Amino acid sequence: MTLQQREQLVSAASEIQQRAHAPYSGFKVGAALLSTTGQQFSGCNVENASYSLTTCAEQVAITAAVAAGQKQFAALAIASAGGVTPCGGCRQVLAEFCNDLPIFLVDTNQDNLVVELKLADLLPHRFGKIIQ
Ligand code: THU
Repeated sequence: MTLQQREQLVSAASEIQQRAHAPYSGFKVGAALLSTTGQQFSGCNVENASYSLTTCAEQVAITAAVAAGQKQFAALAIASAGGVTPCGGCRQVLAEFCNDLPIFLVDTNQDNLVVELKLADLLPHRFGKIIQ
């Protein structure tokens, strides 16, 4: 991916974070996924009064991508206060479609400071068959 694509992905994650519906936790998350075709798909967390019905930002983004016909991904940016790593459930959902994936953690508390990780390092010994 190009430096420009990386910057656009980080900006998209940080922008969509503002749309999060997080009245219960107060913790807003934005995710932006880049497909290998160069398309971007974004998502934010959507909480519910029935807490267990909450959807994570990463899962909103990947669901939108799959619904648009994209299942191969080049990178993911996740924006939050503190630049948190994706939860275990989101790691498994990402692993359904990605052997490995560069993940940019964006700390919106630190002027969008980016830390880069790899999905394979976050979810070693994963369960499941990888769909190519
Ligand atoms: N959250 C995400 O959107 N992604 C993650 O990977 C971790 C957690 C959301 C879910 C919930 O709305 C809030 O952050 C607090 O857990």
